[in-house]
Amino acid sequence: MTPLLEVTDVQISYRPRRGLLSRLVRALRSDTTEPVPAVRDASFTINPGETVALVGESGSGKTTLARSIAGLIQPQRGSLRFDGDDITRPVHRRPPELLRHIQYVFQNPASSLNPRRKVRYSLGRTLDVFFKLSGAERRDRMAELLASVHLDPGYIDRYPPQLSGGEAQRVAIAQALAAEPKLILCDEVLSALDVSVQDNILELLRELQAERDVAYLFIAHDLAVVRWLADRVVVLYHGRIVEQGTVEEIFTPPHHPYTALLLDSIPGKGEHQTSALTEDASTVGTAPDAGCAFEPRCQHRIAGVCEVDDPPRLHDSPTHDVLCHLSAEQRVSLQSGSAAAAATSGVPSQEIS
Ligand SMILES: Nc1ncnc2c1ncn2[C@@H]1O[C@H](COP(=O)(O)OP(=O)(O)O)[C@@H](O)[C@H]1O
Ligand SMILES: [Mg+2]
Repeated sequence: MTPLLEVTDVQISYRPRRGLLSRLVRALRSDTTEPVPAVRDASFTINPGETVALVGESGSGKTTLARSIAGLIQPQRGSLRFDGDDITRPVHRRPPELLRHIQYVFQNPASSLNPRRKVRYSLGRTLDVFFKLSGAERRDRMAELLASVHLDPGYIDRYPPQLSGGEAQRVAIAQALAAEPKLILCDEVLSALDVSVQDNILELLRELQAERDVAYLFIAHDLAVVRWLADRVVVLYHGRIVEQGTVEEIFTPPHHPYTALLLDSIPGKGEHQTSALTEDASTVGTAPDAGCAFEPRCQHRIAGVCEVDDPPRLHDSPTHDVLCHLSAEQRVSLQSGSAAAAATSGVPSQEIS
């Protein structure tokens, strides 16, 4: 099967600000360093109709990666393919059909809905741009879209400030659906919502996928929610993919030590309940120049190795890889003596780079 989306070796750095004031601040701080890439060597795929979760702490590069897929930021290296075609180009150089097929839903629905325009305008605009509908056809399509996100037709005349957070996110989802996309980039779409509403939105996303076979890149800063939605999980740390695999593989040892930390941080599981996820990667410190980026925080670092050499990408299975100096056997024995661990021990890890 041709993947719907193929991200290969993508690297993205933000340019340092060029203004006089920014340059002066940098000069005063004697800061002559090149910007650290926000995303490095990222490779993963999304198949048609699949949900791939992208997880990692704040500042790990999730939004940067999603923005590059949407063409809002250009990678310095690497390539993006969609439906087999190269799409490594900015949004203004993408054909309308491609723009239609990749939609973005933001964390805060306020950023996709104009507060001064009725819901009618937001939905209608997408329909106008991509389908040129008018009259009854356009009206029916809008009612259909609202129904598909479980809002009654009266919502068409509401203004965004008259909507609750959950309702606004439903409208934002309906707006994305209006384009009839093949891929929706869901960037922390639950984070701004009450916990009670989060489940409803998750359920809605699942339902819409079953009906329409749309694929999701579901971005989240923790692993708890992705278990129920994702087929596969990609874990990002300081701009690098440190582990990816099927949901079962990610939730069963052996993990990357960072994934283990994320799993421990799921409320009600493990002892570190609030440890990892409340931190912002930018306050955790910049990644070291040499060796493994996670080494300064890793409980299982191998002295003389992890801070010196770049970790190899180990293929625990054809669908599961981990960027780590520890072999699968070492990770199994460190991470648990559970039945799950026993089941995976003895699987040789293959070093490929
Ligand atoms: N517009 C920007 N200019 C400069 N640096 C940025 C910009 N946007 C994000 N960054 C930096 O890139 C890194 C990744 O950010 P981001 O992709 O927003 O992470 P996440 O979505 O995982 O929280 C962070 O270190 C952040 O400070
Ligand atoms: Mg983000």
